[in-house]
Amino acid sequence: MTVTVSTLRKLKDEHRKFATITAYDASFARIFDEAGISAILIGDSLGMTIKGESSTLGVTIDEMAYHTRCVSRGVKNALILADMPFMTYASTRDACENAHRLMAAGANVVKLEGGSFLSETISTLVRNGIPVCGHLGLTPQSVNVFGGFKIQGRDEESRRKIIEECLAVEAAGASMLVIEGVPKDTGKAVTEALQIPVIGIGAGNDTDGQILVMHDALGLTMGHTPKFARNFLAETGDITLAIRKYISEVEQGIYPDDAHSYLK
Ligand code: KIV
Repeated sequence: MTVTVSTLRKLKDEHRKFATITAYDASFARIFDEAGISAILIGDSLGMTIKGESSTLGVTIDEMAYHTRCVSRGVKNALILADMPFMTYASTRDACENAHRLMAAGANVVKLEGGSFLSETISTLVRNGIPVCGHLGLTPQSVNVFGGFKIQGRDEESRRKIIEECLAVEAAGASMLVIEGVPKDTGKAVTEALQIPVIGIGAGNDTDGQILVMHDALGLTMGHTPKFARNFLAETGDITLAIRKYISEVEQGIYPDDAHSYLK
């Protein structure tokens, strides 16, 4: 069955969890789609996973459009999300032009990192027929502002600020939101505060959905492996079985357990 933004909203309303994953090419996208994944993100994590760089900052809109086109050819049912790369939505005009390129390449939703400062941009995109996924918490495009890939929302003040910013993204018209790299109780608080589906990564198992970088789910990550990563391929010996196990454990709330979550 084709997954739309309404499908994910309905799952949230019915308290049913869903799994999503990144992909960058048609072959993996097809396997994930056939395994029953709800959504596939062409993440700007491709800066690391595909290009071997140390951050997402060097990813271009041409690269994102190319990989979005590749993924879209492998997908029949999953919702396709594509990341807007660093500095491609610094003005509303740039955001419209660049989001248009990703939609033309096959995306159903574009994802932007940031909070209330993006309100006008988000509402303009939505008014023009482009669904938006917000992204808050540890937003990798702000690595230099954070001074590293640091867990966010650990103290009460920053947790309150994150929730406030998430609410602003929802109020601007976003259809869903990714919350990354926060303690489990912050992931839970954001999920309860928002009407739109909240997809967690390193945010505990109380969010509506989960997302993993495919390299983390299949044991392909080079260098540092984050705490929440789990090699489902090593546990199953087959890519389709690995993704089915990931989906099933997310749907049952088994993954991520506390050993794969930040508790404080
Ligand atoms: O770029 C990416 O893969 C992402 C996920 C980590 C959510 O944004």
